[in-house]
Amino acid sequence: MSQLDHKSAAWSALFSEPMSDLVKRYTASVFFDKRLWQADIAGSLAHAAMLARQGVISATDLADIRRGMEQIRQEIASGAFDWKLDLEDVHLNIEARLTQLVGDAGKRLHTGRSRNDQVATDVRLWLRGEIDLIAGLLEDLQRALLTLAEQNVDVVLPGFTHLQVAQPVSFGHHMLAYVEMFARDHERMLDVRRRVNRLPLGAAALAGTTYPLDREFVARELGMEGVCQNSLDAVSDRDFAIEFASAASLVMVHVSRMSEELVLWMSQNFGFIRIADRFTTGSSIMPQKKNPDVPELARGKTGRVVGHLVALITLMKGQPLAYNKDNQEDKEPLFDTVDTLKDTLRIFAEMAGGITVVPQAMEQAALRGYATATDLADYLVKKGLPFRDAHETVAHAVKAATSHNCDLSELPLAVLQQFHAAIGKDVYDHLSLRGSLNARNTLGGTAPAQVKAQIERHRKRLAA
Ligand code: ARG
Repeated sequence: MSQLDHKSAAWSALFSEPMSDLVKRYTASVFFDKRLWQADIAGSLAHAAMLARQGVISATDLADIRRGMEQIRQEIASGAFDWKLDLEDVHLNIEARLTQLVGDAGKRLHTGRSRNDQVATDVRLWLRGEIDLIAGLLEDLQRALLTLAEQNVDVVLPGFTHLQVAQPVSFGHHMLAYVEMFARDHERMLDVRRRVNRLPLGAAALAGTTYPLDREFVARELGMEGVCQNSLDAVSDRDFAIEFASAASLVMVHVSRMSEELVLWMSQNFGFIRIADRFTTGSSIMPQKKNPDVPELARGKTGRVVGHLVALITLMKGQPLAYNKDNQEDKEPLFDTVDTLKDTLRIFAEMAGGITVVPQAMEQAALRGYATATDLADYLVKKGLPFRDAHETVAHAVKAATSHNCDLSELPLAVLQQFHAAIGKDVYDHLSLRGSLNARNTLGGTAPAQVKAQIERHRKRLAA
């Protein structure tokens, strides 16, 4: 029997009775942390290479470890690997199998290492890879939204504040607002990555180790940007996971806001967009229904991801230094955050390609809401009125239009002139939706010329 064949034997002769089955199940993590297997093998191989280089293990041991790990890699990839609950976690499972395969060399692998620095390293390596995938998905989503923006630069949407019609905006401009959000999310992910990508290995259990380890070498082998400089901190803090969960929560909050808009826009009361049938579902009782389940679910899943952030940050708050078993609880929230985020980003990028806008419905809504009232006020200011007086004058004009049940642009010149004598025929250029759009030609404004310039900038940025 190899030393690690039974979990109760993993610790030593110190224990006089085996662990109870209930405790075994309660403390085991293998059924979720086996997801870390590739990172675990990579970390072990780098550690072993360093031990050999430093003369702590022999070249033969290293060759045996490499050979054994290669077989384990194949076994896990093919599904043949026999994961054992008795061996608690991914680390002990792989190490026990290695020893089974290569004997003493396998038993030497853990020299100068603890599962405390091992697990922290594994989670960081794994998360680094996931961050790279997520960054790519954030770029895909931006590209999809850019295409949608490009197709709808000249489509006028009523912009809202307080969900009341405010001013006309280009639908393209509205989409670019989300591109900005997801661009910042991308930036945040890459910034978090720098702090994820540091090496805890070599901290051992908590205090460092008596072997002449070369941690810088291991960091280079693993493509890490640096080495955690304090052994206690290295094994205990999970701030990198919390930071990631926070960045992920922000992505989801952005997705959720967009979802809320899609749901509203798709309702009969707005009728601004249609979402391709493949992203909607019917009702089992109401035959006329087409429900925006995808955006609704994304909005719901935002709560789940924010919940994981709260779980992770709460997990940390009461822990004394250094490692505590509490930290095993970091994995499921982290894994689920990554899964939820990746699925959501993928589906949103695809769904963006399935959105059809209904320009007429948007324009009608803008007209019903007097979206160009500010333009009339600005017009009067340019004719010499103080802004506050112009504001008051336009309020009277809106009141008149409301009682005539028409838009400001539909009031005859004579009627408009009753509100102010300075109003001339040219006022109608300012009262049209398109006139209003074109007039907002400042950096970051909604004029189609600005929107096109922004699309160009984003395209270049995303091509780089
Ligand atoms: N499964 C453990 C975790 O996820 C590995 C580290 C265990 N270390 C220990 N000293 N019990 O954190």
